[in-house]
Parts: sequence; structure tokens; C-alpha cells
Amino acid sequence: MRISFSVTPERPSPNGVFRVGLLGHGTVGAAFHELLEERAEAIEASTGQRPELSGVLTRGRGDFDDILERSDLVVELIGGLEPARDYVLRTLAAGKHVVTANKQLLSQHGEELYSAAAEAGVQLRFEAAVGGVVPIIRVIHETLAAAHIQRVHGIVNGTTNFILTEMARTGASYEEALAEAQELGYAEADPSDDVSGRDAAAKMAIIARLAFGTPLQVEEVPHEGIEKVTGEDIERARELGLSLKLVGSAERVDGGVAVRVFPTFLFGAHPLASVNGSFNAVTIESPAITEITLSGPGAGGSQTASAVLGDVISAMIPPPTPPVPARALPIVTDVESAFYLHLEVADRPGVLAQVAEILGLQGVSVRSVVQKGLGEDARLEMVVHRVLESKFLAAVAMIGGLDFLRAEPRVIRVIEEVF
Ligand SMILES: NC(=O)c1ccc[n+]([C@@H]2O[C@H](COP(=O)([O-])OP(=O)(O)OC[C@H]3O[C@@H](n4cnc5c(N)ncnc54)[C@H](OP(=O)(O)O)[C@@H]3O)[C@@H](O)[C@H]2O)c1
Repeated sequence: MRISFSVTPERPSPNGVFRVGLLGHGTVGAAFHELLEERAEAIEASTGQRPELSGVLTRGRGDFDDILERSDLVVELIGGLEPARDYVLRTLAAGKHVVTANKQLLSQHGEELYSAAAEAGVQLRFEAAVGGVVPIIRVIHETLAAAHIQRVHGIVNGTTNFILTEMARTGASYEEALAEAQELGYAEADPSDDVSGRDAAAKMAIIARLAFGTPLQVEEVPHEGIEKVTGEDIERARELGLSLKLVGSAERVDGGVAVRVFPTFLFGAHPLASVNGSFNAVTIESPAITEITLSGPGAGGSQTASAVLGDVISAMIPPPTPPVPARALPIVTDVESAFYLHLEVADRPGVLAQVAEILGLQGVSVRSVVQKGLGEDARLEMVVHRVLESKFLAAVAMIGGLDFLRAEPRVIRVIEEVF
């Protein structure tokens, strides 16, 4: 049983010491602890204050109230929703800064936390929640604060990028590449959050909130994972000069925003096409800056800890910059995209013409086609130019009903832009 007192006198920070409470001492927490001790002297030299750990909380060690009382800033590296949310809110309410790497928490309770930080006049920093050590949050929220961001494309999940890279590099199946990712520690024993696209959707919700100032929860981000991607998809696409990535896209469309995560083909010249292995990357587009690409390691204990410590140092140096209050923009679900279409058909005259006619009726224009004979059947692969998703899918549904089709049509989105 824990006994707490309703009024506890605040223990002041000793002169020149900045006290950091640490919640969670797992992969990232332990690496953060080590890095903090290693870099304390250098941080003191540049900020005039020496960061010191004031306490550590795990399931079997430490007491939150005690740590809060003795800290100027609390680092939350527990993960999950509760008790992380409760601890973060209580820290902010106590007028103390928070640094967290918790994308689940921010993508589901971001508004509550941002306004709690603003009300208390303290900082809530979360660089490590998206893209590991790649400074995506800082660049969108601070460096590009003056730019009107039009669109962000991101490879924000290292596990799926590793799997897709291995499938393309070695010809491995999805199952084989996943097993390898698990063996090497790039994928969890239960990889469902990563491979289903939900992890990337949470990160895109956080990015869109900052880029467009609209409140967005992970549930509002349609996502598709990589479980159904086959080695054949990747191999065939190579013939068309495309590479396959799990891409999160957030863009302004018709006065609203469209935020989604899908397996997507990229042309070789796109900045994200060459991002391989467990690396993360984002391209940020705005008329004022054209395009910026940031890339680097998307996870890992020491890399993530470095982003967390960077946030701690920023919080030691005022002024605080909580995100401005959100203004809701409509969420647009039917947006334009280019598409790849793969059809297995009977090899007989008139098939291509019939497919082309249906596409034409829906206003779909074909960019490139590859046709190959397979005995009595044939394979038709094509990339079509940008078109409203509803029109393209209507055409595919009509094509799916034709009697010469030998298998379900396969559809994958394509990003056409190169810079
Ligand atoms: N790992 C990465 O590469 C990475 C990258 C980017 C962001 N992140 C984020 O960083 C955060 C931490 O991830 P991690 O990989 O370090 O997790 P982890 O290895 O599972 O460590 C979690 C830590 O939190 C503690 N904890 C769990 N539930 C608790 C509770 N109810 N009360 C007190 N302590 C509790 C655990 O205590 P016990 O030691 O007692 O179990 C453990 O020390 C997550 O939000 C994650 O999404 C991680």
C-alpha cells in the first residue's frame, strides 16, 4: 500500500543541476540512462546546467510521486496508453516538462496532452515518437514553421521497410523476410502493429497534426499493411522501373486533409525509392521550399535514446513551444493517385482493347503497359496516371467481372512525383 500526503513541499533543484526523472528502463530507457551519464559533462558545458537522473520507475522499482517531486523534467519511456497517459498529465499539471517517445499515446490522446502542456506553460517534446533519430518533428514543427506544408510522404516503419528490402534483394517470400527480421531484432515476436500499417498510421497522424494543425487520431488514418505483398509483385514491378515501399502520405486536398498508409510503388528517381533496410525517411513538400528529404535509422535503443536526450537538452533551453491549438479540417478520403494494375487474363484477341475501354470510360489514362504470354493465358501489367481513387476502383470492379479474367486483379498505388 502506498501512503501519500496531500501537500508535499517541492524539493528545489540544487544549483546548476537539472533533474531528470526516468519512467521505463527497457530498450530505450536503459540506453537513455547510459547516454545521459556519458554526455552530462558536455551538456553542462553548453547549457550551464548538469542533467542528473533523479529516479527511475519500472514495474518493480521506484515511486512515481517521489520521482515527480524530485524532477524538473520527466522522460516517459514506458510505452502504451496507461499508466503513461496518467503520468504525463500529472507531470504537466505539476508544471514540469515531459519528453516522450510514445507514438501510441500521442496519436490517441495528443490534443489532451498538447493543451495540458500549453495550459501549464511547459514543454512536451516527442521527437523520438516518429522516425527514431531522424529529426522529423523538429523540422516540421520548428524549422518549417513558416512554410505552408503541402504534403509529407514517409517511410516511417523500419520493420516493414526491412522486410520489403529483403524481399527485393534476395527474392525471399514475405514469411521468410519476416522471420529474418525477427531473428535480427528488427521485428517483434508479435509484429502485427508493424506489418498491418497501424504503427505507421499512428506516426502519420502525429505528423499530420503538426504539419496541418488539424486534430487527427490514428483511427482516422486508413491503412493497409504488407502482409499480402508477394515476391512476384516486387519482381514484376522491377520490370516497370518501380520499387515497393510502405508509404505514409499526408496531404492537403480541396481544403481538407488526406492521411493514409499503403504499400506503394515508387519510380527510381523518387527520394524515398532508395531508402533501404530499417531506415526511415520523409519527404516534406511546400511551395516555399520545394522538397526536403530526411533519412536515417528509424529505431534502436541507442539511436532513439539520442533523440530523447536531444529533446531533454532543448527543454533545458527555453522558450517552450507547445503545438498551437488545432483547427479541424475536413478529412478527405477519395483522393487522386497513380496506380499499378496486374491482370491475369485469357490470351485471346480483344482483351487489352476491352480493358482499355473500361479504363477510358472512367477517365483512367494508361501510362505504361507490359503484356506477356503464359501459354493459354497472358499477364497484363500497367501503370495508370493520377486519377480519383473511386473512379479507378470502379473500373477495376468492372474489369473484375469480365469472363476472360483468370485471377482477382491486383492493385497497388504508385507515387509519380520526382523532384
Ligand atoms: N525500442 C525502440 O527502438 C523504440 C523506437 C522508437 C520509439 N520507441 C518507444 O519508446 C518507448 C519505450 O520502448 P522500449 O522499446 O524501451 O520498451 P521496453 O523495452 O518494453 O521497456 C519498457 C519499460 O517500461 C517499464 N514499464 C512497463 N509498464 C510499466 C508500468 N505499468 N509502470 C512502470 N513501468 C512500466 C518496463 O518495466 P519492467 O522493466 O519492470 O518491465 C520497462 O522498463 C515506447 O513508447 C516505444 O514505442 C521505442
